[in-house]
Amino acid sequence: TRNGIEFAVADLEAAEFGRKEIRLAEHEMPGLMALRREYAEVYPLRGARVSGSLHMTVQTAVLIETLVALGAEVRWASCNIFSTQDHAAAAVVVGPHGTPEEPKGVPVFAWKGESLEEYWWCTERMLTWDGEGPNMILDDGGDATMLVHKGTEFEKAGVVPSPDEDTSDEFRVFLQLLSASVAADTGKWTKIGEGVRGVTEETTTGVLRLYQLAAAGELLFPAINVNDAVTKSKFDNRYGIRHSLIDGINRGTDVLIGGKVAVVCGYGDVGKGAAESLRGQGARVIVTEIDPICALQAAMDGYQVKRLENVLAEADIIITTTGNKDVVLVEHMARMKHQAILGNIGHFDNELDMAGLQRYPGIRRITIKPQVDEWVFPDGKSIIVLSEGRLLNLGNATGHPSFVMSNSFSNQVIAQIELFTKHEEYDKEVFRLPKKLDEKVAKIHLDALGGELTKLTKEQAEYIDVDVEGPFKTDHYRY
Ligand code: NAI
Repeated sequence: TRNGIEFAVADLEAAEFGRKEIRLAEHEMPGLMALRREYAEVYPLRGARVSGSLHMTVQTAVLIETLVALGAEVRWASCNIFSTQDHAAAAVVVGPHGTPEEPKGVPVFAWKGESLEEYWWCTERMLTWDGEGPNMILDDGGDATMLVHKGTEFEKAGVVPSPDEDTSDEFRVFLQLLSASVAADTGKWTKIGEGVRGVTEETTTGVLRLYQLAAAGELLFPAINVNDAVTKSKFDNRYGIRHSLIDGINRGTDVLIGGKVAVVCGYGDVGKGAAESLRGQGARVIVTEIDPICALQAAMDGYQVKRLENVLAEADIIITTTGNKDVVLVEHMARMKHQAILGNIGHFDNELDMAGLQRYPGIRRITIKPQVDEWVFPDGKSIIVLSEGRLLNLGNATGHPSFVMSNSFSNQVIAQIELFTKHEEYDKEVFRLPKKLDEKVAKIHLDALGGELTKLTKEQAEYIDVDVEGPFKTDHYRY
């Protein structure tokens, strides 16, 4: 704590650099800046206590400061152990008007390269307020939401189940943390769950968890699925990845991508961006899919569609984008080419069998630099694994660029305002934002790019059965 602000970041002295990059990012985030102007005198988030768990990057700093500009109090942690940009974290703590000696910003608990214990400690600190708890959660991947839900569940039961041999390291650490707090018997998580008006969730994987909770009737508060705003998943997941996938591979390895064979597992929104990213560098791209529709899309886009086991001998780069588990198993890794690159860009590292790799008899790990490891098999052949299997665009590079995140985060801010101000109107289910707001977010960003939007005539609008001012599509339209 300094100047009354609690924080745990790598180095507050990095704040000046962070502030400079935040200033440049603000210009590239017209959606967030427009929301600041629109609500300048209104403070719709006054009284909101937002606990946020989302990659603590420069772009997220602009999101946090937008929430503050709209009246919210905020506490923040990163949703991945490798994704924090330390200068951004420092700048948020210091704030636009503070100094490292006298910070005036927001409590942040995040640094690049946390251990799992530290990660869950940061998440808990982010949810632990003085006095009353948080009344809003902003989540990416659902870890903060899971902590509150599991905490409540275990408090009700009075025990935390002990891990068995199938429990992942991540979940083991999570259970340890909860054991301690449930044993303290303060009802901490139950109280937080009761105080939260709603959660807004950023990504595909977190949204899946929310729908599972809602289906089981276990959701403790209403949720807005931000991911499935069109201006989120059809832009961030796709065009963001198109930018940040090769950024991560380049910064991690500097291997020429042109001419190489790259395999992209999954051809959803992220997979489409990933394949385009690699093709743009001249790679020969092969796609694996389980869904015939997405597989056919890949084929129509000009990619070969194959099974992973049939392309291991030729792949120079393998990237998973599925949001599923066990996609590349250690037996696949053992059959990859010498010095082939393996990385994941989906939300969790369980897409790659990292546990199996660590246990492989005779395996050796050589750390080339942080977030780049060479794993040497007993026969002398090695593979290069990026970010220990965690999302490599944020582990090896700096994630998506500002402009695309401005789309995503505009939806986040709108969703926070909606749930904070109108929570009584929402049941404990998962909702999406109205299309009109999606179109508004798109319009702001189109304008910033100098795009000219054609205006419908009244007659044309009647002919296609829409309003002149939109929404311009039905809800089932797929873009
Ligand atoms: P999506 O659902 O659109 O795409 C996933 C695709 O993977 C689907 O088409 C599915 O059929 C396919 N798939 C599932 N299991 C498979 C398997 N075993 N083999 C091959 N294909 C398989 O989801 P989206 O939006 O593309 O997100 C994917 C992941 O990326 C999620 O975990 C999401 O949270 C994450 N994400 C990461 C970002 C980043 O910056 N790193 C940005 C946005 C999303």
